[in-house]
Amino acid sequence: MAKVTLKDINKSFPERGGKLKGNEVKVLEDIGLEVKDGEFMVLVGPSGCGKSTLLRLIAGLETTTSGDILIGEENVTYLPPKKRDIAMVFQNYALYPHLNVYDNIAFGLRRMTAGLKASKSSVLPAGLEKMLMKVTETLPKDFHYNSATETHINQKVQKVAELLQLELLLNRLPKDLSGGQKQRVALGRAIARNPQVFLMDEPMSNLDATLRAETRSQIVQLQRQLGITTIYVTHDQVEAMTMGERIAVMNKGKIQQAASPLELYHHPANCFVAGFIGTPPMNFFPVQIDYPLQIVHRQFNFVIPDHWKHYLKENKKKAATLGIRPEHISIGNYSRENLQVKINLIENLGNEIYLFTETLEESPKQVIVRIQGEKIFKIGEKIWLSFNQEKIHLFDRETEQSLLSKVTHFSSV
Ligand SMILES: Nc1ncnc2c1ncn2[C@@H]1O[C@H](COP(=O)(O)OP(=O)(O)OP(=O)(O)O)[C@@H](O)[C@H]1O
Ligand SMILES: [Mg+2]
Repeated sequence: MAKVTLKDINKSFPERGGKLKGNEVKVLEDIGLEVKDGEFMVLVGPSGCGKSTLLRLIAGLETTTSGDILIGEENVTYLPPKKRDIAMVFQNYALYPHLNVYDNIAFGLRRMTAGLKASKSSVLPAGLEKMLMKVTETLPKDFHYNSATETHINQKVQKVAELLQLELLLNRLPKDLSGGQKQRVALGRAIARNPQVFLMDEPMSNLDATLRAETRSQIVQLQRQLGITTIYVTHDQVEAMTMGERIAVMNKGKIQQAASPLELYHHPANCFVAGFIGTPPMNFFPVQIDYPLQIVHRQFNFVIPDHWKHYLKENKKKAATLGIRPEHISIGNYSRENLQVKINLIENLGNEIYLFTETLEESPKQVIVRIQGEKIFKIGEKIWLSFNQEKIHLFDRETEQSLLSKVTHFSSV
């Protein structure tokens, strides 16, 4: 086990075709991140944001354009993959189809020990061992000759199989396994190697929703049990929120924010993180912040809650973006503080209701509301929405950065 440190990583690929042929395409920019020893870190972000590339750099399957990668205290930037002591589980877990579960799990271990001199792992010369194994192969299992290495591998495979509940499947070929079982074998193969670091790239994307939820908790429990530093890639924010001790949210090759799930939810650093984390997503409105600290929108206005006053000092107008999560909106009455909308779609989930509404403007804007209870709504009905003002988020309209991050002096308008 070890911490993983990424220092100012940049990665560009040469463009191979099209108009930009010959140019460099920047895929990762100034990535800095420290994954603590034993931590479960999730990398999350939309497709193409550079998650797999970052993982492949850590694994040593790609080289960095600049920057350093440290595992523990060792700089591994220029080490080949096999010298980095990591195990990687991919989206396509690529089990060897002709090997049964046992041999698939044992495969990596055999490769690791193949380099050892026979004298280190066995009392007999290697040639003699091979011959004995060959000769006894056709006999009943109890009479097979096993080398010391094979005995050691057998112990490991049995332990991993027990951990992942694969004991009864050890003789099966991959084609006779369900998706979830194949997934567990791929994990088993990685675990058996007892690496310092696990890298997992969307390992569950081939599973159905139920199996995913099940495997999700299994992976988390297993990781806690083994305490192996893990970097897990997904584009699914629910998966990220439920699995990660910390989450690094990526967009366009950059880490937007790295924090605990609750920190990301309550204090998103910018509009991207605010909109990416949470379902249904946060609603945004263009507003002005006016003296004396009022939030003014074309259709509603209210006094900024006290805790914001610390961050908003000056008395000039400022263009900002107001963010409010669907669960922090309730049904209210006519008031200048509330927003009138029309209901377009109702999703009744049983325990809660999602209302997809739109503002009554020339170019209407969608507002999503998430409420508890059994109230009956009608499509086309006009309702007043009341914001939980303590829960609002404010972002700079231009930079999209949270106004919480620093004291903002309103001088831009
Ligand atoms: N070998 C390569 N040559 C050129 N461009 C590449 C290469 N590998 C990746 N890219 C580009 O780098 C960007 C990031 O790709 P990457 O696979 O890291 O994204 P990702 O975040 O893992 O996406 P997904 O969620 O779809 O798997 C993409 O625009 C991709 O086209
Ligand atoms: Mg990917």
